[in-house]
Amino acid sequence: MAILVLGGAGYIGSHTVYELIDAGRDVVVADNLLTGFRAAVHPKARFYELDIRDRKAVDALFEKETIEGVIHFAASSQVGESMVDPLKYYDNNLWGTTVLLQSMVAHGVDKIVFSSTAATYGEPERVPILESDRTEPTNCYGETKLAMERMMSWTSRAHGLRYVALRYFNACGAHPSGAIGEAHDPETHLIPLILQVPNGEREKISVFGDDYPTRDGTCVRDYIHVTDLAQAHILALDYLLAGGENNVFNLGNGVGFTVKEVIDVTRKVTGHPIPAEICPRRAGDPAQLVASSEKAKTVLGWKPQYAELDTIVSSAWTWHKNHPNGYQG
Ligand code: UFG
Repeated sequence: MAILVLGGAGYIGSHTVYELIDAGRDVVVADNLLTGFRAAVHPKARFYELDIRDRKAVDALFEKETIEGVIHFAASSQVGESMVDPLKYYDNNLWGTTVLLQSMVAHGVDKIVFSSTAATYGEPERVPILESDRTEPTNCYGETKLAMERMMSWTSRAHGLRYVALRYFNACGAHPSGAIGEAHDPETHLIPLILQVPNGEREKISVFGDDYPTRDGTCVRDYIHVTDLAQAHILALDYLLAGGENNVFNLGNGVGFTVKEVIDVTRKVTGHPIPAEICPRRAGDPAQLVASSEKAKTVLGWKPQYAELDTIVSSAWTWHKNHPNGYQG
């Protein structure tokens, strides 16, 4: 029996495949390679280049492989892009998941771990955020991820599918071996953008707003290492395989860092001065997003291993300095 990882050539997907294979699991990866990279796929995984909106291709995979559970990362994930091209998000995220669930139901595959996001909450009513808190997304990306969660819930009632939705906070860092890491085009995330300065790819980092109601005026986020996220997927899958009910879990460290604090840690880790420039706020950024992950710890037994920000940034730095062009060299 194999685990099917959809979007397993992407950032969090590829790290999850590495952890699954290290844990001795048989892994099948499917990815359309629009944003993922073939080189990020673990050599021991069986790879299918397909788009989950292609029902025939998804059906053929379920007919060829014996799949005991699905981990679903195959979605568009850029907040800014979702605001200028919302229908791309409805098409890829919602239509893709519709086709996937139709095929799973048709083939009797009834367990799915789903890559959700803190963007489902929108502007939080309090921090740390609990899974039971209000979900009112402020961008189309978060809206489609919340709708994907709901689609799974209704499909569960009608067809007995069981799902776990994992709401990530700020995924960052890279595999401790240095073999795989973060590679987005265009890059929009804070830590890889800061690291472009010591790498000689940009002169300074822009700080989007310093007038937020936080300790130094810059936004607070909860940065969580990608390998810790990957481990949570394995625990969630095992929870479903052991008969666990539908569930939703936050995944974060429960500790918030400001943008200025992240820049300072990166200066220490890289030994580079990293000039910073205060710029206007970026539209749609909540002041603070910090997770309560107590539920994942209690129910799944999740224990993040890379909780220190300098460890996280060091692992990202090792990847970026050795791969300034990502998987292109
Ligand atoms: N930031 C800067 N300068 C930059 C880039 C980012 O100051 O050049 C700031 C942002 O304004 C924000 C913080 O750094 O305050 C983190 O920004 P990221 O773009 O790295 O991450 P976000 O918190 O915006 O988004 C992340 C994920 C999303 C997810 C969201 C959930 O990238 O996919 O968390 O809250 F939806």
